[in-house]
Amino acid sequence: MYILGINAYHGDAAAAIVRDGELIAAVEEERFNRVKHCAGFPTEAVRYCLKTAGVGIEEVQHIGISRDPSAHLHKKVLFAAKRAARGGGTGKGGRQEAGAGAGGRSQKGIADFGLRGADLGQTSDFGTNADEAHAVPGGGNGNGRGIFAQIKDRLGNAAKVRDLKGELAALLGVSKNSLKAEFHNIEHHRAHLASSFYVSPFERAALLSIDGFGDFVSTMWALGEGNSIKVLDHVEYPHSTGIVYTATTQFLGFPYYGDEGKIMGLAPYGRPRFIEQFRRIIRTESGGKFKLDLDYFRHHAEGVEMTWDQGSPVIGRIYSDAYAETFGPARELGTPLGDRERDIAASLQQRLEEVGFHVMNHLHEQTGLTDLGLSGGVAYNSVMNGKILLNTPFRRVFVQPAAGDSGTALGVCYEIYSRVAEAGWRKGVKQSVRLRAGGDDAAGELSDVSGRAASQTNSLRYVMETAYTGPEFTDAEIVAELEASKLQFETYTDEEVTKRAARDIANGLVVGWFQGRMEFGPRALGNRSIVVDPRRADMKDILNERIKKREPFRPFAPSILEERTGDYFEQSHPSPTMLMVYQVRPERRAEIPAVTHVDGSGRLQTVSREGNLRYYQLICDFSELTGVPVVLNTSFNENEPIVCTPRHAIDCFMKTRMDVLYIGNQAVRRKEEVMSHES
Ligand SMILES: [Fe+2]
Repeated sequence: MYILGINAYHGDAAAAIVRDGELIAAVEEERFNRVKHCAGFPTEAVRYCLKTAGVGIEEVQHIGISRDPSAHLHKKVLFAAKRAARGGGTGKGGRQEAGAGAGGRSQKGIADFGLRGADLGQTSDFGTNADEAHAVPGGGNGNGRGIFAQIKDRLGNAAKVRDLKGELAALLGVSKNSLKAEFHNIEHHRAHLASSFYVSPFERAALLSIDGFGDFVSTMWALGEGNSIKVLDHVEYPHSTGIVYTATTQFLGFPYYGDEGKIMGLAPYGRPRFIEQFRRIIRTESGGKFKLDLDYFRHHAEGVEMTWDQGSPVIGRIYSDAYAETFGPARELGTPLGDRERDIAASLQQRLEEVGFHVMNHLHEQTGLTDLGLSGGVAYNSVMNGKILLNTPFRRVFVQPAAGDSGTALGVCYEIYSRVAEAGWRKGVKQSVRLRAGGDDAAGELSDVSGRAASQTNSLRYVMETAYTGPEFTDAEIVAELEASKLQFETYTDEEVTKRAARDIANGLVVGWFQGRMEFGPRALGNRSIVVDPRRADMKDILNERIKKREPFRPFAPSILEERTGDYFEQSHPSPTMLMVYQVRPERRAEIPAVTHVDGSGRLQTVSREGNLRYYQLICDFSELTGVPVVLNTSFNENEPIVCTPRHAIDCFMKTRMDVLYIGNQAVRRKEEVMSHES
């Protein structure tokens, strides 16, 4: 049984395919079309998934999308009606001219905000954005439009999402009639929750999805057990932690989609002297809930402009004039950062953590469980994640590598799979599904189509232990690309290639490391990475000057042999997807300065032999040479999506000042590097 899951029509469009419960492929569209956070429809990602599974779209039995326009529809209509009755804008937000850009950025080009944009706004990767009930066509405040027109827009758009079949057939160039699959709309946060549970190692777990908005909800928590996820509660539009983070990120002069991570990197430079202000902006309530002081925001009152059509998403200004009244004028993009900006960032980060732990502690109280599956854009806040074990009773945390919106493609597959499995189980239908253990209804045995008794044990369930679900290339394909580029290269054995690369890293070279299947999610995890020596304090500057051109305050991350984590960090819970920040032990900080942030922290990736043998071996070889089981790992790209193909890697190598490119078993040295190497 093949199931195709899609995240479409907003940021980080992606596709995933599952065969009989096993994840075959998952990939973001941006890696193919080279548009960062590409929104729209993931046509190339779908093609890749089908090709990898070896099936045509006609052979797929279930297809789903991580949106359900009918979810909470009555609440959306009620909200829109109330707003219309109020005449649109309210509070301080209403005084601001709509469409004045995020952080001073021009909103020109956001005109394409027609019917579809009006309803499809959802969550950005870390944070936020407008919700379907709220983004307003034309960037206006909606006063001039009748409530019925707005509702009609939304329903029209909903129909478009529902016509996934037509869209898919047209984009793949097949007839609509040839698609035999059953189509599903999976509510956004249910897709997130599914992505954090069904591929986790847990049989029972507390689940939390926390982000900007999706299907009118910003936060949802649940109990995952066996083949089902029982939603316990949620926080609705317009209240959202992601919205606060994105609004403040914009206010600090970082207007682009996905910039929230920069503020997380800036926060340790500041003091949280504005914490009381942020406690007023977002206050906690009983039952794990929280509420915004809506005076500080525009999204609920005026709508926020956004575009998404096959480009990088653009979100209009979310914060209202009240921000400037509280903190002073917004920082203009490109102007120097001062103490005020650093302190606002520190305060915001602290408040996010306080609210996050407030929800998590309540979730623990409700479930009594100590295993947590975490998802949603806010789950990319690795600083918060790294403090979960210190601030809540949770003892194990699973953060799926694509915890943000791209991962909902995967969640859609498993939500459908679990429903099919559950339905089949209830009917006693023999089918090729693998059930998870746990839950009252799931006890006993089930036979699969082959007649094999499939007892419900852990061994039958797919656990997503790695993020390597994207394209891979043979050495023959790689060699062909190198020859086409007229590059000189050497070919090494498996054993030699890690040893040579480790030596180059230890010698201070900047090494491109392109191996195996590409990662799913935002982090390069040793297959599409640039790797350098973490012992050299100047490596940050070298990387920034030669390749990355990032803001100097942003940290670089360490990859460490999993079994050595406790020797270097104050916590040792595995972090295989680089979504946890721990404190580096004080006595180790001088040893690995290039990956130790200003506050002594590091956003680490723990690397195991089982997870990525070649990368593990590379770090082992580096450790043998230097005594340090850590390398600096940054994504293989230069201000673009992470490279996907050998062609992308070669192009990046050529246009930057990387010293050596290891691509499969081949190594290409920059010319001047060849000369110094030979001398
Ligand atoms: Fe989301």
